[in-house]
Amino acid sequence: MSQRIQFSQTGGSEVLEIVDEAPSAPGPGEVLIRNKAVGLNFIDIYFRTGLYPAPSMPSGLGTEGAGVVEAVGEDVTHLNVGDRVAYAQGPLGAYAEHHTLPAEKVVLLPDFVDFETAAASMLKGLTVQYLLRQTYALKGGETILFHAAAGGVGSIACQWAKALGVKLIGTVSSKEKAELAMANGAWATINYTEEDVVERVRELTHGEMCDVVYDSVGKDTWEMSLDCLKPRALMVSFGNASGPVDGVNIGILNQKGSLFVTRPSLNGYADTRERLEMMCDDFFAMLESGKIQVDVANRYPLAEAGRAQDAVQSRKTTGSTVLLP
Ligand SMILES: NC(=O)c1ccc[n+]([C@@H]2O[C@H](COP(=O)([O-])OP(=O)(O)OC[C@H]3O[C@@H](n4cnc5c(N)ncnc54)[C@H](OP(=O)(O)O)[C@@H]3O)[C@@H](O)[C@H]2O)c1
Repeated sequence: MSQRIQFSQTGGSEVLEIVDEAPSAPGPGEVLIRNKAVGLNFIDIYFRTGLYPAPSMPSGLGTEGAGVVEAVGEDVTHLNVGDRVAYAQGPLGAYAEHHTLPAEKVVLLPDFVDFETAAASMLKGLTVQYLLRQTYALKGGETILFHAAAGGVGSIACQWAKALGVKLIGTVSSKEKAELAMANGAWATINYTEEDVVERVRELTHGEMCDVVYDSVGKDTWEMSLDCLKPRALMVSFGNASGPVDGVNIGILNQKGSLFVTRPSLNGYADTRERLEMMCDDFFAMLESGKIQVDVANRYPLAEAGRAQDAVQSRKTTGSTVLLP
């Protein structure tokens, strides 16, 4: 038997329950992975609360993990039993000792990446890859605003921006988070609990404002983020930590300076095997060079997934969180 976390109704972390069941054998094109570490991401909270609907109930949770291939289905050519692997996409159910998923979503783990690092960074690292290298192909010299700069995604973004020669201004909610973001390579930070973000961005940029704003906070920051942009610049709204941005009159993009806006997702960028491999190659190269170091700051037993989610949701964490089966 094998343990997994599931939920039968949406709600607070109390809806998560741990159950025992036999791992499902991989079908054609699938692999069965014994997870060594599981990544916790804010999107898991969106599914648990019902902001994003789970395809069926009861539902597993989580899309990121790292471990060892235990069984291989028909027609799988790039993976073998015993391979060290990681994944950041696919059906919900990574919060488990075993997870069965399409092999095309699974990549071989280079020797220099351990299981905890992979589970803590694959989804977040590939997200930063597409945000900084594709959604807007930063070349160096640009000024960007990145919200939640001391979080899991933010900690990787600070380091990647520094490596590219980009001035990243990070928003944070405390002095400790500001220090962490600076240590990770942020050019400046703004503690939004004490400072006016737009005014501070104006001061820091001498009135020029930002080339791109990366906003994963959503509802609370949407309009303020638009005010931090140069004319004709790009707003990247990529998350809903405070709730979704809805009911927008697109005329606001005209009023704020003929702005561009996009609402991207990892699945929309890593939508083919070739694109997934290209993005992994880029991210793993950053890890191998040491330009990005992953802060596996928070570890919880799998059975305490609810407590781990509460910590992330209540802004108590910095860096990444993993669950250990
Ligand atoms: N679209 C995509 O492809 C994609 C992929 C991965 C992640 N994301 C998004 O990226 C964001 C970061 O993900 P993560 O897993 O690395 O989480 P995280 O950044 O470690 O945690 C979220 C952070 O958001 C900030 N925050 C601001 N307002 C908040 C609120 N009302 N409630 C909770 N947190 C709030 C907090 O930082 P402060 O205390 O400093 O404000 C908090 O620590 C999430 O919004 C997630 O949905 C999107």
